[in-house]
Amino acid sequence: MNVVILAAGKGKRMRSDLPKVLHPLAGKPLLAHVVDCARSLGPSRIVIVYGHGGETVVRAIEGDDLRWALQEPQLGTGHAVMQALPHLDPAVPTLVLYGDVPLTTHETLARLVESAGADKLGLLTVELADPAGYGRIVREGGRIVRVVEHKDADAATRAIREVNTGIMVAPTAALARWLGALSTDNVQKEYYLTDVVATAVHDRVAVVSARPADASETLGVNSKRQLAELERIFQNRVATRLMDEGVRLADPARLDVRGELVCGRDVSIDVNCVFEGRVVIGDGASVGANCVIRDTRIGAGAQILPFTLIEDSSIGARARIGPYARLRPGTDLGEETHVGNFVEMKNTRMAAGSKANHLSYLGDTVVGERVNIGAGTITCNYDGANKHQTVIEDDAFIGSDTQLVAPVRVGRGATLGAGTTLTRDAPEHKLTMSRTQQTTVESWKRPVKKPAAKS
Ligand code: UD1
Ligand code: CA
Repeated sequence: MNVVILAAGKGKRMRSDLPKVLHPLAGKPLLAHVVDCARSLGPSRIVIVYGHGGETVVRAIEGDDLRWALQEPQLGTGHAVMQALPHLDPAVPTLVLYGDVPLTTHETLARLVESAGADKLGLLTVELADPAGYGRIVREGGRIVRVVEHKDADAATRAIREVNTGIMVAPTAALARWLGALSTDNVQKEYYLTDVVATAVHDRVAVVSARPADASETLGVNSKRQLAELERIFQNRVATRLMDEGVRLADPARLDVRGELVCGRDVSIDVNCVFEGRVVIGDGASVGANCVIRDTRIGAGAQILPFTLIEDSSIGARARIGPYARLRPGTDLGEETHVGNFVEMKNTRMAAGSKANHLSYLGDTVVGERVNIGAGTITCNYDGANKHQTVIEDDAFIGSDTQLVAPVRVGRGATLGAGTTLTRDAPEHKLTMSRTQQTTVESWKRPVKKPAAKS
């Protein structure tokens, strides 16, 4: 089958410089949701009709499998599909989707396509309590005979509550003929795709319909309000799926997944967490309130405590991270590591059982096993021009408020005294420190305030 995605419309009500179909839903452009759903149907061709926003839209959506048809000017949905015709395989049916209707499911579309087969026209329709604005499905003796746009409809037709979602599937050669016969003789002076329905009926082609599993599948985005509503619907679906898989969510209404979240057994997630990219959480792990986690793997039994930000990292089993930790890209923590409050790490590997519990920066560092990093330890990894590595071997003990001026190495079992500025390697199993001698000035007296001069 062919899939045509209509994405040329302006989206004036978004009040934005960004083309409407590029506004993100769950971190991904609206149009990308539609493209992904189209791909899931395994079509032979996907054609996107673009116009408003021009090349910006083309550049934002990736895929060698996509064909692009420019619609300029935009003279209606029928005109839009006409622009796609040269790209279509006439031997298979064509499914028309909208780039601003992102929640339609694979199952619903598969059902529509199946009911239309190779030679029928299929419409996805839905019954709405308030059908205002939509095209109405007009039936005679139960059979669909035409679609009438709201603006062209009389009062009796406007009373019909079954509406056209805009999604349809049609035999392609016939569709091309029907489109050729369209006129702009209507209130909006546009080429209406919906007018092909009456032509098909005239041609004695059967018109069938399918319903979505849920009415929300057919909602479009025309404003920021609707975008936010669809975001919640989408997130609610994700939360429901996670709970069905056994994840404990403190509140399914306070979860945001902008990518793929894969959880093991007995994972629990507290409120207000945001997951981006691909995040994998192992069995029995927990994520505290207000964490943001992107492209990260979290080992079994790990605890991520509140207010932690993690990007592009790997957390070992039974590790304890946070509260208030910031793990930047390239952080790789072994089993049972502890990273505490106000600790920042970047491009740093820390092996099993090591701890950095308070107020530290570790960048471009390799830390061995069972190392203790004291409070306030900082790796000086950047000399203003280049980054350098720090290596801290197994069982080392780094005293508080130490600066490790990279490149530098701390040997196995070495101890650094508190307050050390380490500029040369520290040998194994020895105490190394750099500290000025402590002195007490016996003769010193604290100054006292002079009495104010009388005036
Ligand atoms: C359309 C349908 C209506 C249906 C409604 C569902 C027609 C004539 N009407 O109306 O029956 O109930 O959708 O939401 O088809 N587009 C283009 N080029 C154009 C015009 C539109 O690409 O020249 C795209 C838009 O970007 C959008 C989609 O087509 O993705 C629908 O356009 P829109 O203007 O929203 O159609 P409606 O008037 O709402
Ligand atoms: Ca619309």
